Amino acid sequence: MRPVVIAANWKMHTTPADAGELAVAIAGATRQPGVIRVICPPYLSLDAVRRAVADEGIEVGAQNVHHEASGAFTGEVSAAMLAGLATWVILGHSERRRDAGETDALVNRKLARALASGLRPIVCVGEQLADRDAGTAEAVVADQVRGCLAGLDAETLLAGGLVIAYEPVWAIGTGRTASGADAAAMSAAIRSVLAQVGSPALAEATPVLYGGSVTAANVGEFLIEPSIDGALVGGASLKPDEMAGIVARAAVTATARAVVDAASRPAGGGA
Ligand code: PGA
Repeated sequence: MRPVVIAANWKMHTTPADAGELAVAIAGATRQPGVIRVICPPYLSLDAVRRAVADEGIEVGAQNVHHEASGAFTGEVSAAMLAGLATWVILGHSERRRDAGETDALVNRKLARALASGLRPIVCVGEQLADRDAGTAEAVVADQVRGCLAGLDAETLLAGGLVIAYEPVWAIGTGRTASGADAAAMSAAIRSVLAQVGSPALAEATPVLYGGSVTAANVGEFLIEPSIDGALVGGASLKPDEMAGIVARAAVTATARAVVDAASRPAGGGA
């Protein structure tokens, strides 16, 4: 069964002076079995968060990485600079697509760099409201997944632990969410693309997260869907109480999956 992942995207919030304290509060509020917890603070807060949660089993991620290994790229951050600071990276977030002009082709290059550097990628995809209204949401997202994964083979993506976050753009920071059923349908559509361009094993193993105005109150609607494996959380991830509720609900799903896993093993088969 796929793992359950709750990833916190702190966006452009916190400073190196206060990020550690927030991370400690979140760590203390989210000690639950079976859930992979990832905090993605701004670059400059990575070290503070990493130190603060070193003994807490929380993993740390960056919110972006440059596609080149090094060079004349003023203001950019390379994968090598993240070594020792982050083990995950968010790629192609819709705010970067909007504000930094990131395209699927660029995300594809960043993904290749992340995989080559041992950073576990969370690749973000999601349609605009106009796409959903026009009935083209699944086609748009399928194109994004194809573009972001182009030329990368299934074994590399599997070994690198690819994660996809489905984040409808109209749901990010708006208080509106997709329905659980719509998110599950999109997750299934994403998996069928993964099977086509990668392999059935890649489709089966890749966690698909939902993102967009996730809170403790609504996360259950997504986590009850077997095809959804967690959440990418923005605004609510800055609030330890919200994170407590989100991760507690995620632990219910993780525990249920572990029970199904155990039951599906042959009797007396040991570990
Ligand atoms: P939100 O952000 O939870 O504040 O909507 C989610 C995201 O942008 O990843």
